[in-house]
Amino acid sequence: MLKEYNISVIPGDGTGPEVVTEGIKVLDTVAEKYDFKLNFTHYRLGGEHYKATGEILPEDVLEPLAASDAIYLGAIGHPDVKPGVLEKGILLKIRFDLDQYINLRPVKLYEGVMTPIKDKGPEDIDFVVVRENTEGLYAGAGGFLKRGTADEVAVQESINTRKGVERCIRYAFEFCRNRNKQKKLTLCGKTNVLTFAFDLWERAFYEVAEEYPDIETDYAHVDAICMWMVKNPEWFDVIVTDNMFGDIITDLGAMIQGGMGIAAGANINPEGVSMFEPIGGSAPKYTGRQIINPIAAISAAQLMLETIGEHKAASSIEQGVIKVLRDDLKDVAAGKMGYTTQEVGDLVTDYVKGL
Ligand code: IPM
Ligand code: MN
Repeated sequence: MLKEYNISVIPGDGTGPEVVTEGIKVLDTVAEKYDFKLNFTHYRLGGEHYKATGEILPEDVLEPLAASDAIYLGAIGHPDVKPGVLEKGILLKIRFDLDQYINLRPVKLYEGVMTPIKDKGPEDIDFVVVRENTEGLYAGAGGFLKRGTADEVAVQESINTRKGVERCIRYAFEFCRNRNKQKKLTLCGKTNVLTFAFDLWERAFYEVAEEYPDIETDYAHVDAICMWMVKNPEWFDVIVTDNMFGDIITDLGAMIQGGMGIAAGANINPEGVSMFEPIGGSAPKYTGRQIINPIAAISAAQLMLETIGEHKAASSIEQGVIKVLRDDLKDVAAGKMGYTTQEVGDLVTDYVKGL
């Protein structure tokens, strides 16, 4: 029997819809080729929808999202909406409510893509960041006292539960083992200052490590990680870290792999429904101009197929991405590709068809 998957699609804001269109085109192509079926249901969520209706993410939309096999997201964020409203109300709400406790972000420099790091090539830049995705500073714990007065106090606490930290660390060890490259897992923390939170992380890390004698362990402070990511990116295989540090170092990671136009991420609930997205944001100034690079969204589609178990189809998307980046695109940046958004989608599709 033909395998079928129900995919919820949230094109979202800005350039989200344009890149998602290309991702779906590629997905349909590989589904046909590898004999499975993808049923896409689109949901209108994001800044435009909020402005028109006042709705952010109603429960009756969250329910079908939670019942689907995966969620494919374009971008959330609108210049007319106060920062935080859509990000917290849609993106973080889905991550938290669906318990997508892993944010997986590959940092891989493909051939033909320029990195700003001198003398480093694809053999040096190939690692994955496992970012905790439901706790830390993102948990929303804290508040104001006497807001707007001279005596005001703002507290924003980092929540680190043993369960949350341990499941993230365990996922990272498993991932590192299955990835089977350097077999090295680096904990990124700040044990010299955040002596409570990262004390817990460090203890959990070395305790779980005992179950993985085949994996080499390493530790570095987050500031040092930023330095090494630029100076010696080849040292890294898998990095595990908390939500805030993971957010920051993966933007740096996106830059060393060539730019936001090609960086993809997966919000994973290993026991539930996961969500896949290009991590570059809504890029409002490029909206509708067909100049944004859809490769990040196409790679997010690849991560989606990997996660739902369609490995052959996922790998053919990666082959397509590798070919197009190496042989076709002049540059990965918006407006400099030498092709329109749609044409880049076509290039990947055509290649995948002929594989
Ligand atoms: C990301 C984004 C989000 C985050 C924002 C939009 C809330 O920067 O996915 O990295 O901070 O997690
Ligand atoms: Mn971010």
